[in-house]
Amino acid sequence: MKKIIIAIDGFSSTGKSTLAKHLGYVYVDTGAMYRAVTLFAMQNNCIGIDFLDKEKLIKSLPSIKLSFKFNSELGFAEMYLNDVNVETEIRTLEVSGFVSRVAAISEVRSKLVEQQQEMGKEKGIVMDGRDIGTVVFPNAELKIFMTAGADTRAQRRFDELQAKGDLVSYDEVLKNVVERDYIDTHRDDSPLVMADDAIEVDNSYLDRKEQFDVVLELVNEVI
Ligand code: C5P
Repeated sequence: MKKIIIAIDGFSSTGKSTLAKHLGYVYVDTGAMYRAVTLFAMQNNCIGIDFLDKEKLIKSLPSIKLSFKFNSELGFAEMYLNDVNVETEIRTLEVSGFVSRVAAISEVRSKLVEQQQEMGKEKGIVMDGRDIGTVVFPNAELKIFMTAGADTRAQRRFDELQAKGDLVSYDEVLKNVVERDYIDTHRDDSPLVMADDAIEVDNSYLDRKEQFDVVLELVNEVI
């Protein structure tokens, strides 16, 4: 069976790592990479409540090493920042509050896009993000654009954070989702937009299993 690149963009959704596993593909969550750079910026005084020192962050980019390591117990790859596992830290609401501003910096994007293109060289990859079908792999064999209402996505994130014991309110999570949607769709460099040849899937009323089935059907039409 031929190996392809599956680009999944749009607003957050669930069950994509399961799809990669099912196909024997590598799954790459590019949002985790932007989150790790944001965590680095927070740890190195490039970012604070009321400032973002872009120049300092851009100068530090060569010292940021991002890698994924597969955790067989969890069944997915965890994010490492300079060889330290940051999978938990990058998922906090604090990181979510800054990530879209960091992701709007062109120098950050070009560093990450280069690494993402390298990871997809051998194909057999499911890559999830905001610009995969438009910028990272414009020739991907299958492009899916996921949409869902902001309130549905906020509820899903809120449930995930609560399950981890994070003390956040639903309203804070919703506010963050709406703010990130705005910044991601309005930035100058690689704004979140559906590629012309992408297939739109509204997953508002689909559970994990249903999303998996819909996407697998699309994959089977291509491979
Ligand atoms: O997917 P997730 O919600 O974790 O992504 C966090 C943020 O990273 C997004 O809101 C967006 O600002 C940025 N991002 C991006 N390009 C990608 C993936 C994520 O700009 N390919």
